[in-house]
Amino acid sequence: MPPVALSDSSLQLIQLEEQPKNRQQGNSRPALRSAPSSTCSSALAEAPWLFDAEPGYGPGASMDDPMRFPAPRQPGLPAEYRNASAEELDQRIRRAKRALGERLVILGHYYQRDEIVQYADFIGDSFQLAKAALTRPRAETIVFCGVHFMAETAAMLSRPDQTVILPNLAAGCSMADMADLDAVTDCWEQLTELLGEGADEAGRLPVIPVTYMNSSASLKAFCGEHGGVVCTSSNARTVLEWAFARGRRVLFFPDQHLGRNTARAMGIPLSQMPVWNPSLPGGGVTAEEAREARVLLWHGYCSVHMRFTVEQIAAARRRYSGVQVIVHPECTMAVVDAADGVGSTDFIVNAIAAAPAGSIFAVGTEINLVRRLAAQHPQHTIFCLDSIVCPCSTMYRIHPSYLAWVLEALERGEALNRITVPETTAVKARLALEAMLELAPKARQGAA
Ligand code: 13P
Ligand code: SF4
Repeated sequence: MPPVALSDSSLQLIQLEEQPKNRQQGNSRPALRSAPSSTCSSALAEAPWLFDAEPGYGPGASMDDPMRFPAPRQPGLPAEYRNASAEELDQRIRRAKRALGERLVILGHYYQRDEIVQYADFIGDSFQLAKAALTRPRAETIVFCGVHFMAETAAMLSRPDQTVILPNLAAGCSMADMADLDAVTDCWEQLTELLGEGADEAGRLPVIPVTYMNSSASLKAFCGEHGGVVCTSSNARTVLEWAFARGRRVLFFPDQHLGRNTARAMGIPLSQMPVWNPSLPGGGVTAEEAREARVLLWHGYCSVHMRFTVEQIAAARRRYSGVQVIVHPECTMAVVDAADGVGSTDFIVNAIAAAPAGSIFAVGTEINLVRRLAAQHPQHTIFCLDSIVCPCSTMYRIHPSYLAWVLEALERGEALNRITVPETTAVKARLALEAMLELAPKARQGAA
């Protein structure tokens, strides 16, 4: 898909509710809490470096989420990039990109701001981008305009001589940080003690670990080491079917909502999907619940998608007759139930592109994508379900100033912000990633 540049400054319409505040660094086991209220700010769009110096996710929909320790932080950005005008940055990025030619490929996630998407050679969802790097064998460097777990995945799937760069190291994912290796290992040991390790007479193991792509390389490695697999929002059902052919239960992390929405669409009752909360003794799951479980759901969530509510859907239906409500599977089950369609970012993009002119869509996903879709499809009416449109505060960390900085360094032969994964981890993580890549993703599949 060709990149699309939009003139609309994508945060202009965001309602300012509260000044940004920096969060204090938490401990290694995040205390999980309920979704934040409607706190949102446009400050991050202008100058993310003001927030990157302190640990915290900054303003935006994930601002109240607990921080992982030690969370990657972006060291200082030189003043010449912080102070450059948008026009100057545009010229510098284009010039560096031309000079680097085929040695460079820029990947952009759908949630990136338009000021970044315009420079991307590939735009897509996390699954498409994981594969995109493989299609440019001549590229020496992959600049990943997305978040940390995506760049890590590209680093593990690309050739060893290719370099992967994340323009701003503070571009993490608060949901990915809700499961860490210690907590998952602890959970696994408790489950193993309770359920044993051996296969049953049908050859199925007691538990298969399945991690959402939104997770650290070490958790992907955990899955590879324990006969598990990675999934994305575009192939979660196919992956769960694969897992159930090999195991009696699935431990699904970190996003409880993707796990629940997908498993329920497969006919698994809620009573067989207990939630494992790592901050509670025994995960808050009784031995009986664990034995009866088909899917153990990790207590993680995406604060961006937790903002969407059934009341917003009802309001959209009152306002527009014939509106189609389409949401991402990271939304709650109640929202998915009330919606007309559910699927990955790519599913949403394709559903809107395929609709007859004059369609009306209320979309429950990150605002940059919704605004871009509205601009690309003037034949439709497209709006965000949430009127206080909070961006993903970590996706917003990628600003043209950081992109210009890393590209100009590349021209000088310097690879700033290189993302690497130790080979001992990558070897195991690739097992879980390759298991996923071998499963043909059901094209444009929704989660329910
Ligand atoms: P996709 O897998 O649909 O790209 O979504 C990634 C993500 O971070 C959604 O919040
Ligand atoms: Fe993570 Fe949510 Fe942002 Fe996606 S939208 S990168 S899940 S915080």
